[in-house]
Amino acid sequence: MTQSARKILVTSALPYANGSIHLGHLVEYIQTDIWVRFQKMRGVDCTYVCADDAHGTAIMLKAEQLGHSPEQQIANVKAEHEADFAAFNIAFDNYHSTHSEENRELSSMIYGRLKANGHIASKSITQAYDPEKQLFLADRYIKGTCPKCKTEDQYGDNCEKCGATYSPMDLINPKSAISGATPVAKDSEHFFFTLPEFGDFLKNWTRAGHLQDEVANKMAEWLDAGLQSWDISRDAPYFGFEIPGEPGKYFYVWLDAPIGYIASLKNLLDKTGGDWEEYWKPDSTAEVYHFIGKDIVNFHALFWPAMLHSANLRTPTKVCVHGFLTVNGTKMSKSRGTFINARTYLDHLNPEYLRYYFAAKLTCNVDDIDLNLEDFIQRVNSDLVGKVVNIASRTAKFINNAGGVLATEIADAALWQQFVDAGDSIASHYENRDYSKAMREIMALADAANEYIATQAPWKLAKEAGAEAQTQAVCTLGINMFRALLTYLKPVLPALTADAEAFLGETLSWNAPVSFRAGEQINEFKPLLTRIEKDKVDAMIDASKDALATAAAPQASATNEQASGPLADEPIAAEIDFNDFAKVDLRIALIANAEHVEGSDKLLRLTLDLGGETRNVFSGIKSAYDPKDLVGKLTVVVANLKPRKMKFGMSEGMVLAAGPGDKEIYLLEPHNGAQPGQRVM
Ligand code: 2FM
Ligand code: ZN
Repeated sequence: MTQSARKILVTSALPYANGSIHLGHLVEYIQTDIWVRFQKMRGVDCTYVCADDAHGTAIMLKAEQLGHSPEQQIANVKAEHEADFAAFNIAFDNYHSTHSEENRELSSMIYGRLKANGHIASKSITQAYDPEKQLFLADRYIKGTCPKCKTEDQYGDNCEKCGATYSPMDLINPKSAISGATPVAKDSEHFFFTLPEFGDFLKNWTRAGHLQDEVANKMAEWLDAGLQSWDISRDAPYFGFEIPGEPGKYFYVWLDAPIGYIASLKNLLDKTGGDWEEYWKPDSTAEVYHFIGKDIVNFHALFWPAMLHSANLRTPTKVCVHGFLTVNGTKMSKSRGTFINARTYLDHLNPEYLRYYFAAKLTCNVDDIDLNLEDFIQRVNSDLVGKVVNIASRTAKFINNAGGVLATEIADAALWQQFVDAGDSIASHYENRDYSKAMREIMALADAANEYIATQAPWKLAKEAGAEAQTQAVCTLGINMFRALLTYLKPVLPALTADAEAFLGETLSWNAPVSFRAGEQINEFKPLLTRIEKDKVDAMIDASKDALATAAAPQASATNEQASGPLADEPIAAEIDFNDFAKVDLRIALIANAEHVEGSDKLLRLTLDLGGETRNVFSGIKSAYDPKDLVGKLTVVVANLKPRKMKFGMSEGMVLAAGPGDKEIYLLEPHNGAQPGQRVM
């Protein structure tokens, strides 16, 4: 098929409507946007749609916490998301919401087909229920003590400490993370998509070139282990679509989320006069590409193709999976200031820097990518400012000085040919989403251009009598090499390219090999990009620091309802007013003694002196402190916490600390002169 006959629908995962876009999300949107811009530049009919993922318990609770309706919540977040994406030059053709009429219609249509085909079963299941909140609790909304290793404060489905998996009702002393109430077991009828019936279909589909090999291998493991029916319903109260004909039952957010891709396309095509079925009918010749993170592969490579297959719709051409973002080699962390929101980044730095850095790091595989902040500064400054922009700034002025008209001959035809010839291989790296290879080739060309300019030294030539024509020719080749580089970089650097296009007086296109521009007028050169200053990066990190954060931040899909343990977001605790807060009696305590607790690798036993009164407190700070270093220190303690019976004895209070955990747990320390027993506010 010729490029221009291709018709492609592209999607990125739909971000949840309960949180801000952060740099972890941006890996994917930047990756997708680069691919779409590349396709469009090559003349492909490519449509990029996305939407906010607006349903689910987390969004309902977030709205409640903020004191507004879910509709208000999703409208506010959508406006914020759209502004952030626009600032990063993510050019969606349409940005919609899963809470839309199109999606309601399509979800009930698809559900209706699954049901008519006998692929929906119903069965009564027993689940944990919060009697105070009158809400069924997903596993991540229940916390308690691990039944196996007895570690406290573990999520409802697995223990972070010993790795045991269990049902939330097996937890010792389970509590609702929403209200603090003890959950009770309650039955209710649920609807299931009968995934096991699609085992053979999926075994073929996952090996038919739709997935990266490593992803297909993972799917094979899951398929070999056997599939289970997928629970697609949730009971009221739930923010979502009520299931047709099933009052009080709602589609689980993950049922209607991927249908939201189609709904966003339909919303667009209803405006422009197209038909969504053109893309989604079983024999469609259009291509469908989903870009997603590795944590939501099960939904996109198993459930989604099976649903589409049952509903007699086409399945995706490719599901392109990327890894997570780490910052400075570790998980993004609020306390370290490396959990960076899109808006915080924009307050300090140019989005083009990040687009380039991610492009330089992204490959076609599922490996995590690291934003090393030192390397970020160094690479952007060296590649973009030192190499690419430098070519124009070293040559444009001599053209400008001589009236701004480019020479008519090519000063070094062999060198120019290298730039033209590289186009195909760079294009194939983009096509295969191996952007790091594309960036390497482009920078190798930039090195060749800089070497040529250094050897020719137009600044010397310009001073030699009779060398005007040669100066012009050398600088004309310089400008053309710059044009070629910017053409190849245009999908990555749309804003920089737009400024360069204003200077060159042309729109750079790439639907044919780059041509040499000769004998034409260019405009006055103005600096195109400034270097990244370390101060700005430091200021961004400072602005991202949350001194009270104790947990490492969640990853790409921040509130994945299926995720648990370290991937899951902390559930939002109910809002408290000042009177509630004032009930907390915070006191200065002197650590009179500290010792190891036999049988516990997390806890220390602290003897606290609260000004005459002595307390025994167990504190999970062993990873960060040697007990002997604690003795004699002052700290802050919650003095009126109800004593809790723990495996090792009674704990009569709680010591306050902050930090990401492990070696970094910082006890709150009062100022000098504070007295044990004194109240703190
Ligand atoms: O994991 C997430 O952040 C989800 N909101 C992604 C949904 S993608 C699609 F299926 F809608
Ligand atoms: Zn455990």
